[in-house]
Amino acid sequence: MAVSGSTASPIRAGVIGLGMGRHHVTAFKQAAGCQVTAVCDPDAKRLAQVAAEHQVAHTYASAEELIHGGQVDVVAIASPNFLHHPQTLVALEAGLHVICEKPLALNAKLAEEMVRAARQHKRKLAVHFNHRMTAHARTIARYCRQGMLGEVYFSRIVWHRRRGIPSGWFLQKKTSGGGCLIDLGVHMLDSCLFALGHPKVVSVVGQTQNRFGAVDASGRAMDVEDFVTAYLRTAGGAVIAMEISWASHHEHPEQMILAIYGDKGGIVRRSEHYQDRPLEVTRREGDLLTTTRLDTLDPGLSVHQDFIEAIRQDREPLCSGEHGVEVMRIIDAIYESSRTGREVRLKA
Ligand SMILES: NC(=O)c1ccc[n+]([C@@H]2O[C@H](COP(=O)([O-])OP(=O)(O)OC[C@H]3O[C@@H](n4cnc5c(N)ncnc54)[C@H](O)[C@@H]3O)[C@@H](O)[C@H]2O)c1
Repeated sequence: MAVSGSTASPIRAGVIGLGMGRHHVTAFKQAAGCQVTAVCDPDAKRLAQVAAEHQVAHTYASAEELIHGGQVDVVAIASPNFLHHPQTLVALEAGLHVICEKPLALNAKLAEEMVRAARQHKRKLAVHFNHRMTAHARTIARYCRQGMLGEVYFSRIVWHRRRGIPSGWFLQKKTSGGGCLIDLGVHMLDSCLFALGHPKVVSVVGQTQNRFGAVDASGRAMDVEDFVTAYLRTAGGAVIAMEISWASHHEHPEQMILAIYGDKGGIVRRSEHYQDRPLEVTRREGDLLTTTRLDTLDPGLSVHQDFIEAIRQDREPLCSGEHGVEVMRIIDAIYESSRTGREVRLKA
């Protein structure tokens, strides 16, 4: 496999699962030093459509055929959540590097196995935490890490939808691992931990609710949550409060908030229906409190470009498998707290 050195031939990428996977095809095509050589989906119509649109040479009906087909060096796995773990293990064992969609797995135990397998086979494993790579998320992280907010003691993460319950495999715990928490909360938690420099979360209190009870295509009621609130404490005593919903009577059809407050300043990112508003930074200037609205010139960073460079430079990708595990441990703890009605302490 030609994957190192500045004159190396392009890294050959494959994509498994072509819903969200279509975006992976585009992102790999846009990454320097990479070409898309194979795609896979059991849905023959979808497979043919994507292959034709992007002129992909090799198509497969199963992940195993793609993985063992000899046409790729890396794969993006964008199949339903319950397939992330088994397909990643097969790919790593076959010597491929893997970008896996979020959530890394149905729970932290499976996610840990994936990270261990990557280490054992000396392959790179990244999680598609694309939200933390946006211009605004990276600017917030820079503000926090450069100490411009002082000591951060409170963060608020929100992702509400009025009516946005997905369908099919998303609605059953067996195939999804959970509802809006594992689907949307995973991004907000990751973006917040990234901004704060990955502090250790030591305890969690959470409550999930299923208030809208959607039914899937076969008429089964969903057995996962459509709403969650949680309160997380970090080792340094800072607090993260979260609210996430797939459905709610919220004032906006869809709203995301990442707000971080320190003793010298606060920064807030709000977006409505995926449209970012300018960042708002509030700080004390002498005896005045000022709020500044910022647009950033940061171009953002592609998970795929970073991943290709991580392979060539033999370093950890920015959105590492470890970060996928970190978030899954917190998500597991929120589900446990909701089930037991107790605070859950996370192991050091
Ligand atoms: N990072 C993000 O912003 C983001 C956004 C949306 C979805 N996702 C993630 O992407 C993954 C897929 O979600 P989606 O919305 O595309 O779901 P989807 O149901 O729309 O698409 C899943 C695709 O996987 C295919 N598939 C089913 N079984 C397969 C198998 N055994 N092997 C290969 N492909 C198989 C299906 O035919 C379908 O085309 C999920 O893990 C989801 O959490 C991430």
